[in-house]
Amino acid sequence: MLKKIGRNDNCWCGSGRKYKACHMAMDEKIQQYKDMGYMVPGRKMIKNKEQLDGIRESGKVNIAILDYIAENIKVGMSTEEIDKMVYEKTLEYKGIPAPLNFEGYPKSVCTSINHEVCHGIPSNDIILQDGDIVNVDVSTIYKDYFSDSSRMFCIGEVSKEKKELVENSKKAVELGISLVKPWHRIGEMGNGIFEFAKSKGYSVVREVGGHGVGIEFHEEPFVSYSCPKESGVLMVPGMVFTIEPMINMGRSDIVMDDDNGWTIYTEDGMPSAQWEVMVAVTEDGCEIMAY
Ligand code: MF3
Ligand code: CO
Repeated sequence: MLKKIGRNDNCWCGSGRKYKACHMAMDEKIQQYKDMGYMVPGRKMIKNKEQLDGIRESGKVNIAILDYIAENIKVGMSTEEIDKMVYEKTLEYKGIPAPLNFEGYPKSVCTSINHEVCHGIPSNDIILQDGDIVNVDVSTIYKDYFSDSSRMFCIGEVSKEKKELVENSKKAVELGISLVKPWHRIGEMGNGIFEFAKSKGYSVVREVGGHGVGIEFHEEPFVSYSCPKESGVLMVPGMVFTIEPMINMGRSDIVMDDDNGWTIYTEDGMPSAQWEVMVAVTEDGCEIMAY
């Protein structure tokens, strides 16, 4: 049960402002959508200005780390070396790598190559080969705020098919960004990505998706990219979540690594690609907080 707040009470968001001057009008609008049968976000999903500022700063660190990787990644390098770069850069920026020890995850970053869909674990034994496509997924804790984004890198001479998969996966995310609009369901964004991927002959992973982020690494809502248009939670200004569809050249089915309990592969062994951005819903669309 939510406590009833008076107009002149402090707003629930922690801004210190009076409710009537802060989230009251928004809450009334949310209630109207709820009455129409929409699934609406809980208060935890809606960030205040201070929190948005903190998440944005964290996102800047995440971007800088990915920029550093982009400058240095090359054929012949082990994924362990990528992990070391992420770890050291993150500390240099006074951040903490969010993956390290997260639910027992052993490294600072995920590096997923070719048919690895996500959560590839860096290792000295994994060497980037000419023709590989690799996802580097960086997540940072900075001043207690979380950020999360990932990019694909093409190593050396990559086949036309794989290059197109990488490019189209980026386009899918950019389409998703354009579909983030307040007072629309998040399914409109997810479904847009799904239809785009399908139109290119690809499939989209169903079991793993995006998530709310900011105060914690993974928050509600779960963000699907294989859902009907009229599904999912209502997008409301102040919500922060990731857009990170995993797009497969072949079938959508995935399998999990039995030995490490983390890495997910395509079942058919075909390549998979993923870009990830972190966005905040605004009054007229969204702000990209990490890319
Ligand atoms: N960065 C991943 C995501 O996009 C999460 C990885 S969890 C980890 O949600 F422990 F593997 F890092
Ligand atoms: Co994520």
